[in-house]
Amino acid sequence: MAAIAAARSESDLLDAKGRFFGKKGAVSGILKGVAGLPVEERKAIGDLANRARAELESAFDARLAGIREQERGRSEGRERIDVTLPGRAPMPGHRHPVSQTMSDILSAFRRLGFSVQCGPDVETDYYNFEALNFPPEHPARDMQDTFYVESGTGDLVLRTHTSPVQIRTMERRKPPVRIIAPGTVYRSDSDITHSPMFHQVEGLAVDRDITMADLKGLLTEFCRMTFGPTTPVRFRPSYFPFTEPSAEMDIRCVLCGGSGCRVCKESGWLEILGAGMVDPMVFGFVGYDPEEYAGFAFGMGIERIAMLRHGISDIRLLFENDIRFLSQF
Ligand code: DAH
Repeated sequence: MAAIAAARSESDLLDAKGRFFGKKGAVSGILKGVAGLPVEERKAIGDLANRARAELESAFDARLAGIREQERGRSEGRERIDVTLPGRAPMPGHRHPVSQTMSDILSAFRRLGFSVQCGPDVETDYYNFEALNFPPEHPARDMQDTFYVESGTGDLVLRTHTSPVQIRTMERRKPPVRIIAPGTVYRSDSDITHSPMFHQVEGLAVDRDITMADLKGLLTEFCRMTFGPTTPVRFRPSYFPFTEPSAEMDIRCVLCGGSGCRVCKESGWLEILGAGMVDPMVFGFVGYDPEEYAGFAFGMGIERIAMLRHGISDIRLLFENDIRFLSQF
């Protein structure tokens, strides 16, 4: 019984069986010995021996069944596939907040009748400055200090704004023109609200009889679509070399609602874009007759608008690509 209980595998068990039940085994020996006993003992001993054999055999069978069951359990543990486990959840990404804001702005202007135009990131001095009425030594160039590209002639720059697309478009097309130009721009500027690379959307409309009222109406509608239908807006006089008159547009501070806070510098207003009526000098560069046509233009920074919409205080967060930050949008 002890040998059967100690058997750990089927072959252990068969060994034990051989030792006791085999030809020279103990059980066989006892059974054979019964025949040589005196008649009066033969029956009692024979019965005992048979009972012992039967008990051993059934212990053996039970142990064999137990070992087989254990073995089956073990191999199932190794090979089992649990079809009820949930699958691995995919991690779908989503668009970056700057891309989301960009595409919202573009679709707002598309609905207002504008089509999209693009221009190169590496621009000539002519398109980036000169044809926009920044003469070579003009101090307005200082506001847009940029990265110059070594080109031999020294006149290639990373564009500082998307305004050059105005010139490229007007050179190719006769009015009416109604375009928006999204893209990357560069300035040698870096702090919590400025990044050396950022995005702008430019707008240009040229036609007969365009007035500043069209500009104000369009941009007011755009702000309602982007910041909510009751957002107050205002226009302030400003200066850009390529527009005359020029304006900057503000919206009521989205954070304090106008009562004054750190973000709006206690003014209650947030500047969101520059705009104006296209300067006749610019029409001169592209061969449009300023007596016949008038136009307006505007330009805005996308990161700034994304920051206002989401209450983001440091522009650098938008470029570090930390998943913990990006997954909030
Ligand atoms: N290009 C200007 C800038 O980056 C923004 C701008 C102002 C664009 C007035 C315009 C405009 O089209 O009319 O600072």
